[in-house]
Amino acid sequence: MKIITRTDALKEAIGNARGEDRTIGFVPTMGALHDGHLSLIRASLSNGDFLVVSIFVNPTQFNDPNDLEHYPRNMKSDLDLLKNYPVDLVFTPEVEEMYPEKDTRVFDLAPFDSIMEGKYRPGHFNGVAQIVSKLFYAVMPDRAYFGQKDFQQLAVIRKLVSILRLDIEIIGCPIIREKDGLAMSSRNKLLSKAGRAAAPFIYQTLQKAVQMKQSHTPEEVREYVISEINNHPLMETEYFEIVEDQNIHSVKSWKTKANIIGCIAVQLNGLRLIDNVYFH
Ligand code: PAF
Repeated sequence: MKIITRTDALKEAIGNARGEDRTIGFVPTMGALHDGHLSLIRASLSNGDFLVVSIFVNPTQFNDPNDLEHYPRNMKSDLDLLKNYPVDLVFTPEVEEMYPEKDTRVFDLAPFDSIMEGKYRPGHFNGVAQIVSKLFYAVMPDRAYFGQKDFQQLAVIRKLVSILRLDIEIIGCPIIREKDGLAMSSRNKLLSKAGRAAAPFIYQTLQKAVQMKQSHTPEEVREYVISEINNHPLMETEYFEIVEDQNIHSVKSWKTKANIIGCIAVQLNGLRLIDNVYFH
């Protein structure tokens, strides 16, 4: 496993792999790796890719400086973990390497950047698009792997690839959950003991919501989820929306051929957790 911090060295190593007729797989991360990330790595390895993993906490996607400051970072344990897998390259640039000058690019990510995450984290997806485009230009992978937990991010990346006309297959991988149902996330490490004990309630409520589909309208299910979460002493809903997964339009009826997903963001003990569940 080669660890590289400079883009030119990265391009050279990937060029050599291409020379050996390898397909390039890419798993971009912000570190604090967990089983969710490892599932992306396994997906890439099962495709036989020359595997590049990046670890970079991207400042431009944080709309809250406090969140950036406290984002969990542990490069040593991340690298130790990756050594257990046949990862070919790990790219760990410094901020100056990725942003030698201010990135002023603005991407048209509509409609994905205006509701749900986009509404509560203004500028977040533009920052994601900035860094992912830079990483894509550097790695030029055949396939890139992202977790379905960040459902809206996945939609944004697909849009980005189409805007930039990049020939990269974007592969969404299923949410990986703890035994008690909590969706894995680097931020879970920041939960207090009480917060961690309470957190599975989010997925339990989403599961009840799916069961309610038989006898309730989407709006009734939406109201149920919001009130259940808000009645929990430690939680507050930021949003819960039931939308079609391709265009993220709210659904008024279950009678649509499109796949329907319920997306939630919850404030828990000063932390923000997101999750989602498919209705069909
Ligand atoms: O999902 C993440 O970890 C980040 O948003 C990503 C895609 C690595 C961009 O910084």
